[in-house]
Amino acid sequence: MIVHVFESKDQVAKAAGAIFAAQILKKPDSILGLATGSTPIETYAELVKMYKAGILDFSKAKTFNLDEYVGLPASHPESYISFMRRNLFDHINLKEYHLPNGLAKDLEQECRDYENTIKQAGGIDLQLLGIGNNGHIGFNEPNDHFVYSTNRVKLAESTIKANRRFFDSEDQVPREALSMGIGTIMQAKSILMICLGEGKAEVVEKMINGPVDPKVPASILRTHHHVTVLLDQAAASKL
Ligand code: GLP
Repeated sequence: MIVHVFESKDQVAKAAGAIFAAQILKKPDSILGLATGSTPIETYAELVKMYKAGILDFSKAKTFNLDEYVGLPASHPESYISFMRRNLFDHINLKEYHLPNGLAKDLEQECRDYENTIKQAGGIDLQLLGIGNNGHIGFNEPNDHFVYSTNRVKLAESTIKANRRFFDSEDQVPREALSMGIGTIMQAKSILMICLGEGKAEVVEKMINGPVDPKVPASILRTHHHVTVLLDQAAASKL
């Protein structure tokens, strides 16, 4: 695990943009794993900037998002598909993107299909990750074991509270999601994790220095052979 600490979150976004740019330039038909949340927004803005400047071409790339809420229509502004369109897809020339369908009739089948589609595409070359306050990656919540493949998840109470800020009331926060599993994430050829702000400092310290433990799902990343972690100073303040 390579850890870089930057003074500002702007620098983190520029460094993350550079890692994505290098991946797309060396393999234009890359399979990219994408994340939502407030953390990657500036990184996506960097990618849009590079696309508009004629540096990056996404036309041969394919993307797979980590997760999607169960039960939110695609038109809802807080669905992850809406988030991705707003922050990235509507501004670049990407032709093929995938997110799990949280409105599928058979959600378990949808999870199996999502996992197979990733495999058929050849697996993920570069997976972007943020981290939840409780150490979750995607929506893989603290657990007594690591869940292997794409699965239907009940969101932890702390995640529902953390996501409350995006909805009018706590009642409206979805209670379930479909998420790539820890195994799906760990099969990515390389992983780029971004953590920003003081609120993440404690969990970042646990991820990097604590035991590999399903109670802190992100700690498993220490066993992956190619993980880069980009932190701003606030997120690195407890290291
Ligand atoms: C959600 C997403 C995660 C993300 C996390 C942190 O739970 N499913 O992929 O890492 O939020 O969000 P933020 O970046 O807003 O702190």
